[in-house]
Amino acid sequence: MVRRYLKLFFMYLSLTINVIDIGAWSENVLDYFLNTNQIKTRDGAEIIWYHAANNKSQMKEAIQSAAHMVEADILLCGEEEENAEPIMAHPPETNSDNTFEEWLNEIVNTKKGIKLDFKSLAAVQPSLMLLEGIKLYLRRPVWINADILPGPNGSSTVVDAKRFLETVTSFFPSVTLSLGWTTGWEPQQCNKGYSWAMVLEMAQLCDALTQPVTFPVRAALVRQSKSELLWLLQKSNRYSLTVWAGKQDKYSLEDLLYIRENFDKSRVYYDIFEPQNSEFRKAIGIGV
Ligand SMILES: *[C@@H]1O[C@H](CO)[C@@H](O)[C@H](O)[C@H]1NC(C)=O
Ligand SMILES: *[C@@H]1O[C@H](CO)[C@@H](O)[C@H](O)[C@H]1NC(C)=O
Repeated sequence: MVRRYLKLFFMYLSLTINVIDIGAWSENVLDYFLNTNQIKTRDGAEIIWYHAANNKSQMKEAIQSAAHMVEADILLCGEEEENAEPIMAHPPETNSDNTFEEWLNEIVNTKKGIKLDFKSLAAVQPSLMLLEGIKLYLRRPVWINADILPGPNGSSTVVDAKRFLETVTSFFPSVTLSLGWTTGWEPQQCNKGYSWAMVLEMAQLCDALTQPVTFPVRAALVRQSKSELLWLLQKSNRYSLTVWAGKQDKYSLEDLLYIRENFDKSRVYYDIFEPQNSEFRKAIGIGV
């Protein structure tokens, strides 16, 4: 009798633990997609991204696509007004046919993880309130992204680091943070990478955090910053890199393969455009 209850108790316990673990917002992306049989190996390059799933047609395409992670940009429409509403758009656009609320109501019916890119601090709190409302149904990795420091040739207009971190962590202490630097990239020039001062400042900001953090880094600037970024990653096993690219950026397959060879493959994600994305996946033998 006692044994039977004990057994039931342990079954209940493991069920509860599963419910808590699987699909927590802080869950490692590779663990989540491995556990849900959506990828086969612990390799960040296996994760397929849909970038800028903002307006309704892009969002629908993202939902129908094979993407594991959907990236989207949030702006506040009418920042002055009382009833300012988070909408899905990337500057210089200021309008959208899609609100964040509508976007969430569609994405929640998928198994896809999400990365929300905030271009202004004002949009963060109203968006987190909408997320709070849907939290129980959104059991999958959720990343909250902002550029909080000036980076290589980047503008100094960043989202205020301290206030961004305070706002996000007060709502969601364990959500995955994606913390970047503003960057510039110039064709036909030698573009400097991320400096020691830049990674040091980021490390200091992240030191007090306890949740997973991914650093979005610009594909064309990673090779020249190998030592700096390797140093940053070894500060904590909660850290990873997400390689991204500007639409016009020129960088080679070799640049991507260099990243692949020099960094732990379970700690680098690739949210990059075509044709580099397919070329890269082909070169490393991951099916497109
Ligand atoms: C949605 O975005 C795509 C890509 O930027 C664009 O081609 C399309 O016209 C947009 N649709 C609407 C309704 O704004
Ligand atoms: C930085 O960006 C400016 C344009 O914003 C450009 O004129 C300048 O050449 C860039 N510097 C470097 C080192 O790339």
